[in-house]
Amino acid sequence: MREIVIAGNWKMNTLPAEGVILARAVADVTAAMTQVLVVICPPATHLKDVVEAVRGTYIGVGGQNVHWEKSGAYTGELSADMLLMIGAKWVIIGHSERRKYFGETDETVNKRAKRALSAGLRPIVCIGETLEERQAGKTFEVLMRQVKIGLDGLVLKGRGGLVIAYEPVWAIGTGVNATPEQAQEAHYFIRGLLKVSYGDEIADQTVIQYGGSVTDANAVELMACPDVDGALVGGASLKADVFGRIVKAGVK
Ligand code: PGA
Repeated sequence: MREIVIAGNWKMNTLPAEGVILARAVADVTAAMTQVLVVICPPATHLKDVVEAVRGTYIGVGGQNVHWEKSGAYTGELSADMLLMIGAKWVIIGHSERRKYFGETDETVNKRAKRALSAGLRPIVCIGETLEERQAGKTFEVLMRQVKIGLDGLVLKGRGGLVIAYEPVWAIGTGVNATPEQAQEAHYFIRGLLKVSYGDEIADQTVIQYGGSVTDANAVELMACPDVDGALVGGASLKADVFGRIVKAGVK
């Protein structure tokens, strides 16, 4: 059976004290749901506090980005070692907001993911088409490019390795989630791409999350799709009870 990974992307939300309270609450509500890998990704300022807050629980903590160099003159960036040293085990890479507002490209996504993997962080690599691309019938073409360039030369190991988050940009923060049919179609396509590059076994073991307006109201039907292996949750991850119900939906 594939892993199920449900990750909360807090984005630029919560102050340190709020983040610690939220992290403890998430740990409480998800304590019994050990079949699901639960990950929370707070802002960098309180990553360490959140790691402390969930110590001894099953919750994994992740950063929201990582640089490709080990260290150096890269103002505003974080290195893989910095994340690892404070106890983060995961990192989101190539989120559509990074692509849209901060010039992230498939090439930089590739470099960041390479560094994350070689350092021992589990990357959650985000891909997904915009509304214009979907309407122009280019969804598969875009996904193919993002996977080809974004994962170029990466060593995937399936279980315990790199995670892909399919996040259609038109569904992020809009309240309009992809339908289960749309999600399944895209996930099946992405898994097919992985099969071509990495073989059946690794493709079958690689987690592909869905992201984009996941809530406790739609999580059950999205998670029921055979190729949907969890979720990357933005807004709804900021409320522990709602996030807890989403995690529960991942208990297949
Ligand atoms: P959303 O964000 O759940 O608020 O739509 C998802 C994401 O950006 O990862």
